[in-house]
Amino acid sequence: MPANYNNSAWFYDRLSRLVYGRALINAQIYLLRFIPAKANVLIVGGGTGWILDELSRIQPSGLKITYVEVASNMMTRSKKRNTGSNQVDFIQAAIENVSPPANFNVVITPFLFDSFTESTADNVFGHIHAALKPKGLWLYADFQLTKKWWQQLLLKLMLRFFKLICNIEASRLPDVEKRFERHNYKGVEEQTFFYDFVIAKVYSNNQR
Ligand SMILES: C[S@@+](CC[C@H](N)C(=O)[O-])C[C@H]1O[C@@H](n2cnc3c(N)ncnc32)[C@H](O)[C@@H]1O
Repeated sequence: MPANYNNSAWFYDRLSRLVYGRALINAQIYLLRFIPAKANVLIVGGGTGWILDELSRIQPSGLKITYVEVASNMMTRSKKRNTGSNQVDFIQAAIENVSPPANFNVVITPFLFDSFTESTADNVFGHIHAALKPKGLWLYADFQLTKKWWQQLLLKLMLRFFKLICNIEASRLPDVEKRFERHNYKGVEEQTFFYDFVIAKVYSNNQR
């Protein structure tokens, strides 16, 4: 049975706030400032969709947003968000099962990769990469390990918990940085949060 965040939709945001305070929110809000006006934006794994509220607060109109989220309970919540006058297409599916046109200026993957095995990460990365225009921006937020003992422990607890509740497949973080390097992305800006356990990074797609 594949991973499914449905079971966690009703408590996900509250649990995240309880454990991390505003760190996971701030990491994503930090990234939103890099979205140019009138951009064509792909958001993958937006969870309950609060990122749509935040994005539309900063840019209330002119954006064309495609919002791909696999869990139906997450999607139901996302559809209730305030999206201003931005155009939003909601697609309830796994990103690897949809083929969005390759015309996005910006893609956002907020805490999408942490529950993937290396092989799923490969598949998902390739799919999203194919949708991003050359010189487009990939706004990436996720956990990282920086040799602080408690990070490894907290990560293990978190992955075990979500394995139990949502049947996620991973028991360690996939190496996403390696994939950005392999596909010739360049990191242009970054900031860390929660004592470096969380990274928000802006990558530019340098393919021709
Ligand atoms: C760890 S949660 C993060 C939610 C949100 N970004 C946040 O920070 O609150 C990961 C989300 O990605 C969704 N997801 C997982 N795999 C996906 C896939 N292959 N395609 C689209 N969404 C996916 C899950 O349903 C879940 O809502």
